[in-house]
Amino acid sequence: MDLKASIDKNNIPKHIAVIMDGNGRWAKKQGEDRIFGHHEGVNSVREIVEACGEIGVKYLTLYAFSTENWNRPKEEVDALMELLVSSISMETPNLIEKGVRLKVIGDIASLPPSCQTELQESIDRTAVNDRVTLILALSYSSKWEITDAVKKIAAMLEKGTINAKDITPRLIEENLNTKDFPDPELMIRTSGENRISNFLLWQLAYAEFYFTDVLWPDFRKNEFYKAILSYQGRERRFGKTSEQISSN
Ligand code: FPP
Repeated sequence: MDLKASIDKNNIPKHIAVIMDGNGRWAKKQGEDRIFGHHEGVNSVREIVEACGEIGVKYLTLYAFSTENWNRPKEEVDALMELLVSSISMETPNLIEKGVRLKVIGDIASLPPSCQTELQESIDRTAVNDRVTLILALSYSSKWEITDAVKKIAAMLEKGTINAKDITPRLIEENLNTKDFPDPELMIRTSGENRISNFLLWQLAYAEFYFTDVLWPDFRKNEFYKAILSYQGRERRFGKTSEQISSN
């Protein structure tokens, strides 16, 4: 069956967030070391970004490295950082050709300087693109991001530029790393883990979740289309009743 052709072009999520999980297990299954799985995972990243451009998903956020991932063995962290730098450097011309704009969220200052430089260069070179916005979550965790927002708001209170009554969901959103992006309508997690793992806790408040057993290196275009078709089969009620939704 042609999954891509079955997708309703009028009901494409504007923003999809992905927890790319299972690289290590995929590599182990092949008798390889974990970093081999991360390398293969980059091919899935390329395909999914391309698929977004083809079907009209405007924002894609990928959880590439969490705050907690710093606790992995040093060799794996170093290898992941190197992979990130080399992938971004190699893929930037491809991003430009496909009209993809790169953005990042997370504690970017904690990344190695070479990584920060490579990211900034790619962000600058892709800034004018508007087909797809690819947001990499790097050294990111939602609790870190929300804590950071609370600190910024507390500083405004201390300075007297706002009062407690000015603290609204909107003000909180304006102080999150994601202030320039709409909330994701769909969150995908691969590899059979049914958790949210400190990812976009605020922004996913009304998102649909799609969990699949497929490991990230095997998650290619067709698997992505299956996730979108599953999303399109759901009724999003935002706290209302089914009858209210269908009468609209
Ligand atoms: C989770 O699999 C994956 C990661 C922590 C890293 C994901 C990074 C990439 C796919 C490369 C990113 C590159 C770019 C350019 C965005 P895991 O290691 O936790 O797998 P496991 O659960 O099987 O051990």
